[in-house]
Amino acid sequence: MVDRRTVRRSYDELADEYADARTTDDQSTELLNELLHSLPASATVLDAGCGGGRPVLARLSESTTAVGLDFSREQLRLAAENASDASLVQGDMTALPIGDSSVDAVVAFWSLIHVPMDEHQRTIDEFVRVLRPGGRLLVCEGNEEWTGRNPDWLDAGVPMEWAIAGAEATREQLRAAGFEIVDRWGAAENLGDDEGDGSEDADTPWTFFSARLTA
Ligand SMILES: C[S@@+](CC[C@H](N)C(=O)[O-])C[C@H]1O[C@@H](n2cnc3c(N)ncnc32)[C@H](O)[C@@H]1O
Repeated sequence: MVDRRTVRRSYDELADEYADARTTDDQSTELLNELLHSLPASATVLDAGCGGGRPVLARLSESTTAVGLDFSREQLRLAAENASDASLVQGDMTALPIGDSSVDAVVAFWSLIHVPMDEHQRTIDEFVRVLRPGGRLLVCEGNEEWTGRNPDWLDAGVPMEWAIAGAEATREQLRAAGFEIVDRWGAAENLGDDEGDGSEDADTPWTFFSARLTA
């Protein structure tokens, strides 16, 4: 069970530790570049759960009208430093404070995994609401379903909670919301100190979906 207040408060507390641990040259940034190449000039892109803005929001703001949304005040403070050209919004991705059909693409890197499990579909439906017809989504999920808590995440002395629906459940939720899956990839950990055990699934424990609205 994920308590959003715990997640928000903990990101306020460990924003700096997360920024130190976050890799910036991972494979996911290559996926981001592929998405950017498919978007029209002057596209508007929402980064849902943008965190401290590095590397994703910073990269988006180089070539798009980028909007970073997060519910953690401290993460947004870092995002303002790291992606100074982006617009920033404090809000909850389960009920986006953003107008209907107002963005060309949504990206959600390692953020849906903190949304309570019974609100994943609603969050994906929110992405649909704010996207223009034919809009694009790049989202990541854990390969396998898992709900859990770390009482002392990143040695920051605060707890963190996750609700990972798993790749297949997420694929179904994307289809139910009206997306077609354009592509999917396995991806490695985005945090420097999380190393796999050498097996293929441990090396790529995350799945990225690139999806397009069918209407
Ligand atoms: C693991 S961090 C990922 C940050 C960034 N996307 C990245 O790639 O490094 C998860 C972020 O999602 C935010 N988040 C989690 N649940 C959220 C929610 N319901 N609404 C808005 N932001 C949320 C957290 O505050 C945190 O900044």
